[in-house]
Amino acid sequence: MKNKKSIGEWALIQKFRLFIDKFLSLFEKRPILLMTIISISGIVTIGFNMNQLTSRIIETMAKGNAALYSDTLKAFRTLYTREVVERLRSEGVEVTHDYQEKEGAIPLPATFTMILGKEVGNLPSGGKTRLYSEYPFPWTKDGGPRDDFEKKALHFLKKNSEKPFISIEKYGGRQSIRYATADIMRPSCIHCHNTHPQTPKNDWKKGDVRGILEVIHPLDNFIIETRAGLKQTFLLMGTITCSGLALLFLLTGRLRKRRMELEDALRLTEEEHIKTESALKNAEASRAETEKALKQNEESRKELERTNKFMVGRELKMMELKKENKFLKTSLGK
Ligand code: HEC
Repeated sequence: MKNKKSIGEWALIQKFRLFIDKFLSLFEKRPILLMTIISISGIVTIGFNMNQLTSRIIETMAKGNAALYSDTLKAFRTLYTREVVERLRSEGVEVTHDYQEKEGAIPLPATFTMILGKEVGNLPSGGKTRLYSEYPFPWTKDGGPRDDFEKKALHFLKKNSEKPFISIEKYGGRQSIRYATADIMRPSCIHCHNTHPQTPKNDWKKGDVRGILEVIHPLDNFIIETRAGLKQTFLLMGTITCSGLALLFLLTGRLRKRRMELEDALRLTEEEHIKTESALKNAEASRAETEKALKQNEESRKELERTNKFMVGRELKMMELKKENKFLKTSLGK
């Protein structure tokens, strides 16, 4: 069992090696193509990642900004209530929603928050605030939840009053963050809300969610700017990669040319070598021929010598015979 597994593992390792080998040989054959593919996929992956990262950064910053704005509004209302409303009320100043129609009257904290929201909405930054609930006072013109987000926010915050309800969506044609928090009834709020002659509900308790404070902040400028930055980074990355690839292309072209030159030179040398070899062979053949001719020469010389010797021998013999003949003749002549 164990052995089988190890064989399987071994086969797997072998396969992996083969794959790496194939990849490397492909890399050797087509380095530019592979580098281009790797670079493009790298850029696409990085781009995708950066896009997500910037979206997250935008979201985090937008949430932070909205939270700060919302908290500031709340702090401002608390401060206005404590430092202005309570002091003036004890001096007999009327604090009412319709303060504009009454001489010497000042706005209620909620009224003040509403008009502050409207005022801020007219500023170039375009931020808006809304204070609304399911129980608006009868004179409120734009009271109650007005769209899907506001309905959902009410539903959510009634159950989770300590958390914010956030959404990034189109508002008034602009991509915006909508940040809603619960406005909770404190002991100082209950008496007035339960006894006001025109109150829509008179059994408020401490801790009830009286309404929602919503901050709406457009993000399009922010998004456009980050996208522009992202585009620039991309362009830079693309330029660097393209120059790198071009350099690589030039370099491999040069190397290829040099290799071809070397190959040509090698071929020439080889041809020369072959030529020299055949010349050498020819020379060898003619040397052998000369040797053979020489040998033949020697042989015929020897033959001649032998004939010569024989002839000379005969001559000598003839001379001897002649001498002998003479001697015999003379001795006979006696
Ligand atoms: C002196 C009386 C009084 C006190 C105190 C008071 N309110 Fe109000 N509140 C009102 C009146 C009147 C309105 C209507 C204002 C308007 O429409 O301009 C209102 C409006 C609101 C609204 C908006 C409701 C809507 O649907 O339009 C909320 C939310 C709210 N109050 C919460 C609170 C909280 C929370 C406190 C305590 C921190 C508080 N109020 C203290 C009288 C009071």
